[in-house]
Amino acid sequence: MKQSIKVYTDLEHGKISKHIYGHFSEHLGRCIYEGLWVGEDSPIPNTEGIRNDVLGALQELNIPVLRWPGGCFADEYHWKDGVGPRENRKRMVNTHWGGVVENNHFGTHEFMRLCELLGAEPYICGNVGSGTVQEMQEWVEYMTFDGESPMANWRTENGREEPWALKYFGVGNENWGCGGHMRPEYYADLYRRYQTYVRNYGDNKIYKIAGGANVDDYRWTEVLMREAAHLMDGLSLHYYTIPGDFWKGKGSALDDRESEWFKTLKKSFRMDELLTKHSTIMDRYDPEKRVGLIVDEWGTWFDVEPGTNPGFLYQQNTIRDALVAGVHFHIFHEHNDRVHMANIAQMVNVLQAMVLTEGEQMLLTPTYHVFNMYKVHQDATRLEVNADVGTYKFGDDELPAVTVSASKDNEGAIHVSVCHLDPHRDTDLTLKLSGLNKSLSASSVSGELLTANELNAHNTFERPNEVEPVPYEPASVSGHEMELKVPASSVLRVTIRP
Ligand code: AHR
Repeated sequence: MKQSIKVYTDLEHGKISKHIYGHFSEHLGRCIYEGLWVGEDSPIPNTEGIRNDVLGALQELNIPVLRWPGGCFADEYHWKDGVGPRENRKRMVNTHWGGVVENNHFGTHEFMRLCELLGAEPYICGNVGSGTVQEMQEWVEYMTFDGESPMANWRTENGREEPWALKYFGVGNENWGCGGHMRPEYYADLYRRYQTYVRNYGDNKIYKIAGGANVDDYRWTEVLMREAAHLMDGLSLHYYTIPGDFWKGKGSALDDRESEWFKTLKKSFRMDELLTKHSTIMDRYDPEKRVGLIVDEWGTWFDVEPGTNPGFLYQQNTIRDALVAGVHFHIFHEHNDRVHMANIAQMVNVLQAMVLTEGEQMLLTPTYHVFNMYKVHQDATRLEVNADVGTYKFGDDELPAVTVSASKDNEGAIHVSVCHLDPHRDTDLTLKLSGLNKSLSASSVSGELLTANELNAHNTFERPNEVEPVPYEPASVSGHEMELKVPASSVLRVTIRP
């Protein structure tokens, strides 16, 4: 049956912050060590210790912002252990993630260099759970003070005279859990205290992010907004898409059953409900929507790959993950008035990663390809969309068969992205564009398609290009519309240039 999508090119809904396409890198498993950092003496080609293959791949994505050093690790991290000559840095045990030795070779200078190489803004998460106010104050001074001060002098001794520009700073992580098991009332008071000393030096203006709720803990949001909204710029939210049960079995990343496919996609839609409900609470205290909702951890979380360290959270990544990513982006776009940033967990080798590595080998995941296909939406203006797309039924339950989002960029190009969730049938879609003053020509339309025949299609080190985007052309273009043939289980982006 023919379905249709209408994009209103003259009905605009504000900017889609590029920061929605942010990332997260934690000292967890092989994300930092091996994944990003191999050290200057490694046989793996590197730039000042950062591996070139991974860097090159990530540079393609226009990564706007990168969160570090955790996660749960952030509330155990003492930044002073990670500066100065590497051979003198203190070794610690990463108690939260696998009990492995952390040699602190990747610290503040290395992270800031990575951000420079990626062209990404740093987002540092400070330690509230086991760190002091002074430690947090001095970290900000170390990074951003321009002039004579104990921390700025130390930074200079460590090889960096110029301060770094640092906008995003998180005051703790998951302080309801691994960050101290606090009650919201207690954390709200601590937040008020700690953030006081997160100072703006010179022209550097920090955007302060308070640790937010776990999933549907609306009371946490209520208390934080009531007690501390006037002292924050952003409030975070964490939600992971887990098909099974977090403790009893999350499910396998490579499961090829339709039941798991459906469950996973269904759970990814929960993000919409969470954003709506948390935003409603925030609206009561902040009707101007000054405080951003910062979804600084999201993505799929499956059981670790068999045979890998359970504390390392290494999982494969399939076409199902690609659809989860696409669905999330469409939801984030829809909430662009409140969602100022989102950071997928995590960048390399952990959870829903962009890139997997094994020794000197590297592969790009289906999720990577969605980030690449969708980067055109960064800082573009969201457009009104009306979709009549039918449903994808499974058992007694159903989902929309297709989700859609559209934007217009600075040059007037219109980008329409489509996620086709139904794994059984291809769909013929008519894409109508209202508000255009001239007819479309086939040469003004281009596109990219990511699809696969198997529900668990993925890339391996032996076959790294099993799931990758291919150029896409509409079946026909005429007037102000075009006919799209959209394969089952696919992510599609169509661009119309003026
Ligand atoms: O991303 C893995 C972990 O998930 C993070 O460290 C923590 O914040 C969350 O529980």
